[in-house]
Amino acid sequence: MNALAEELNRTLEGSCAGRLLSEVGTRMYYPKGILTQSAEAGERAKRFNATIGMAFSKGQPMALDAVKDHLPGLTNREAVAYAPTAGVLATREAWRVELLRKNPSLAGAGFSLPVVVPGLTAGISYLADMFVNDGDPIVVADMYWPNYKLIMEVRKSARLVPYTFFSEAGGFNIADFSRAVAEAARQNGKAVVILNYPNNPTGYTPTLEEAEAIKKALVSVAEGGADLLVISDDAYFGLQYEEGTLRESIFTRFASAHPRILAAKVDGQTKEDYVWGFRGGFITFASQGMTEAGYDALVKKLLGVIRSSVSNSAAPTQNILAKAMADPRYLPQKREYSAMLERRYRKVKEFLATHEAPTGLKALPFNSGYFMCFECSGYTAEELRLKLLNERGIGVIAIQDTWLRVAFSSVDEENLDQLYSEIYETARSMGTV
Ligand SMILES: Cc1ncc(COP(=O)(O)O)c(C=O)c1O
Repeated sequence: MNALAEELNRTLEGSCAGRLLSEVGTRMYYPKGILTQSAEAGERAKRFNATIGMAFSKGQPMALDAVKDHLPGLTNREAVAYAPTAGVLATREAWRVELLRKNPSLAGAGFSLPVVVPGLTAGISYLADMFVNDGDPIVVADMYWPNYKLIMEVRKSARLVPYTFFSEAGGFNIADFSRAVAEAARQNGKAVVILNYPNNPTGYTPTLEEAEAIKKALVSVAEGGADLLVISDDAYFGLQYEEGTLRESIFTRFASAHPRILAAKVDGQTKEDYVWGFRGGFITFASQGMTEAGYDALVKKLLGVIRSSVSNSAAPTQNILAKAMADPRYLPQKREYSAMLERRYRKVKEFLATHEAPTGLKALPFNSGYFMCFECSGYTAEELRLKLLNERGIGVIAIQDTWLRVAFSSVDEENLDQLYSEIYETARSMGTV
């Protein structure tokens, strides 16, 4: 094993983070190679800096006008130079400030400075590199974002262990969640749990009481002696439309919950800031009692994962995000867009409340985010999807044959009545063919 990896492992020894590391995570380190030497030169090579693989002219990175003209608000350095492996410092610091603004309960809890990753997908995949071995159980809801399967099962050879998302009463199924986590922990001595609120595909965010119950369930498993990695996939953070639902990230509940719980927050500008193609996201760690040296070691492991895959994330979008966060129009326009999505949500709720549902099509609970789901019975969601597509030119998503996911986020408010009327009509015709 590399001596640097051994040093990081020694720093993490005795912590849940150290015990949770996968084989890759244990081997991983951030080399003191080109990047460290280059950073030293950046500070001390006052005459000539011939370290890094970029082309400079008169102290500035060379940028083609044909490129620069499309990025008029950025300097050459911001537009075309490499970003550090951990991300542009100003962007990371601004995101940290935003994290505290959006999650006041984090004040006082220790957490690592967010590290930039190229999108939330990459964030989850990198956490899997660090903490998931072949065959490990990954606890997810039965209604989960299908990419978890690709990342955890296909890529990492782990096993998704699902629990039933909704209880009979139509809320979060805390009993089945607790069962799945306890079972996974019993089998493996540790467990990885992915929590995603607002959820894709259901559009459901737990109530405050449910969030407390989720916390209690995980703390009780940790008290039983298992180490837990609790991943909060906060892709749709901030789009809650009802009182009494969890408005802060569930990460805040786990940041200092128990020394056997390592909380990892995966979030980013993708949906929060309406820049899906920017390919930016962040990973932030928190664990009760973790020292600064511990956070530093964990982040260095993560940097090794980044350096060995994408090396660093795109710089222009990070610099644009830092400038956007400092712009006085940033928050008001985000509020405006979120209100627009909320109006669509209310329109859908109103339609469902005022129209009788066809047999075999049941709207499931939703209170947040981009989506809602129908549960199909008597025919598959895929059959209904294809009929909507082929006969009406309407595109929706079938999830695992049972659920039809409708992204009301992407349809204008004035068209939602028509869309849902046609879904109902088509579902009615399914019963009669
Ligand atoms: C639940 C969830 N997590 C993560 C992502 C991925 O985000 P990104 O586009 O930043 O990779 C999505 C995107 O659809 C998502 O729905």
